[in-house]
Amino acid sequence: MNYNNIIIVIDDYLAFITINRPKKLNALNKETIAELHNVFRDLEEDKDVRVIVITGSEDKAFVAGADISEFADFDEKEGSKLSKNGQDLLFDFIENLSTPVIAAINGFALGGGLELAMSCHFRVASMNAKMGLPEVTLGLIPGYGGTQRLPRLIGKGKAMEMIMTANMITAEEAQNYGLVNHIVDQNELVPLCEKLAFKISQNSSTAIAAAIKAINSNYKDGVNGFDVEIKQFGKCFGTHDFVEGSTAFLEKRKPNFDKKWIP
Ligand code: COA
Repeated sequence: MNYNNIIIVIDDYLAFITINRPKKLNALNKETIAELHNVFRDLEEDKDVRVIVITGSEDKAFVAGADISEFADFDEKEGSKLSKNGQDLLFDFIENLSTPVIAAINGFALGGGLELAMSCHFRVASMNAKMGLPEVTLGLIPGYGGTQRLPRLIGKGKAMEMIMTANMITAEEAQNYGLVNHIVDQNELVPLCEKLAFKISQNSSTAIAAAIKAINSNYKDGVNGFDVEIKQFGKCFGTHDFVEGSTAFLEKRKPNFDKKWIP
């Protein structure tokens, strides 16, 4: 499949998605969001792909936000639609994938760019990364889940400050806040992601999918996360991966887990 705004490289179990609009600092226009939706959907259904990494092309930006030129003349109705479509197609979609998604933040991650990174299951960043939600400088608020995911990740007070001041934080600050898990030199970003992806790929993808579901349920309205954990934990006992994993442990050998489980 050919895409205008993204590059996909699949190497064995690892799929690498690069958002490729460097002249616009990889800003998310409508077409890029649609392409990302399609590629995430296809990778989720690909039994061989056990981990997805998403990054931005060149070394200046991960994503510098939603493409402002596309919504500068929108009215209220169009604004709400932009937010809802984006959340449904991409941001909530990524968060609820069964395949682990790592954001490799290689530069500016602003507005929709930081929201995209926050939708991923976790984040790593290069030292030159800068993160922020500058929407209030445009007379807007974050519309792709930023007002919800940022406080979950860094706490309400810090999220309030970041959103109200529109300040950008450094990679180091982001790590101290718990927004990114690791920070490395730019040339080490891809190798680190590959290392993490390899580690993940060695584990049961069925169990990882169940863990994602259970962890995410903590943040869903009206859902009791402990109940979801009980259900997902129980379901694991009915899987080949559990039989294989526990047998391999007792036989003192490496497990040979199934291909990715597709819900
Ligand atoms: N939407 C559309 N275009 C964007 C963009 C965005 N979010 N962010 C950057 N661009 C474009 C610029 O318009 C410019 O295009 P041009 O060369 O055709 O004029 C190009 O990307 C390079 O950006 P530029 O501003 O010249 O780079 P810089 O190094 O001076 O500044 C930033 C970098 C990230 C500080 C600056 O681009 C910026 O503030 N971007 C907007 C961030 C934002 O508000 N995001 C939230 C949107 S909701």
